[in-house]
Amino acid sequence: MIDPEFAVQPERGEDSRALRALAEEIFGPGRFARTAHRVRESAPIAADLSLTAWRGGDLAGSIRFSAIRVGARPGALLLGPLMVAVQWTGKGCGRVLISDGLDLARTHGYALVLLVGDLPYYERFGFARVPLGQITLPGPVDPARLLAVELVDGASQNFEGLVGGASAPRGTR
Ligand SMILES: CC(C)(COP(=O)(O)OP(=O)(O)OC[C@H]1O[C@@H](n2cnc3c(N)ncnc32)[C@H](O)[C@@H]1OP(=O)(O)O)[C@@H](O)C(=O)NCCC(=O)NCCS
Repeated sequence: MIDPEFAVQPERGEDSRALRALAEEIFGPGRFARTAHRVRESAPIAADLSLTAWRGGDLAGSIRFSAIRVGARPGALLLGPLMVAVQWTGKGCGRVLISDGLDLARTHGYALVLLVGDLPYYERFGFARVPLGQITLPGPVDPARLLAVELVDGASQNFEGLVGGASAPRGTR
């Protein structure tokens, strides 16, 4: 059953310790080897879009986005990491974080959001597979897991090539 009782708020500096612990719990040390992590190393986090979800005093989940360019074109984001604490999964926390995050990204003028993840989960938010070879990441990625959603109708046709970090937009760190 979906539980709507998650309070979503912008990520704060003092959340960093709890966020590190959550990342360790969910992904373990292997997270640093993933191709998406390699992109994030060169791409500024869009701090205005970093959200946390709370249940009482517990950090239940978090979402972040990195500002990227595809080929030479800025205006896209890489979604991730998205994390929901094990005890809060299946209660709508991921759904509210993604919905709020995409709404916020749209209001900030981004046109496209990419991610590496499971289509059966993300298609409910409008994500679809990127056509083979249209967008590539600097490392190995299962093409069936490279997904994108347009925040502006028709935007995906404008994004082609290798993903890299965008120069820092407003609100990055
Ligand atoms: C994937 C994750 C973010 C989902 O968060 P959540 O709060 O449990 O998701 P929600 O409550 O919004 O949605 C739950 C629904 O998604 C489904 N779901 C969850 N993960 C899924 C997956 N990988 N593939 C398909 N469906 C999935 C559940 O079965 C459930 O289905 P239902 O609504 O029909 O019952 C969370 O499980 C998580 O943090 N997983 C580990 C980290 C991870 O994989 N992050 C994403 C990649 S960076």
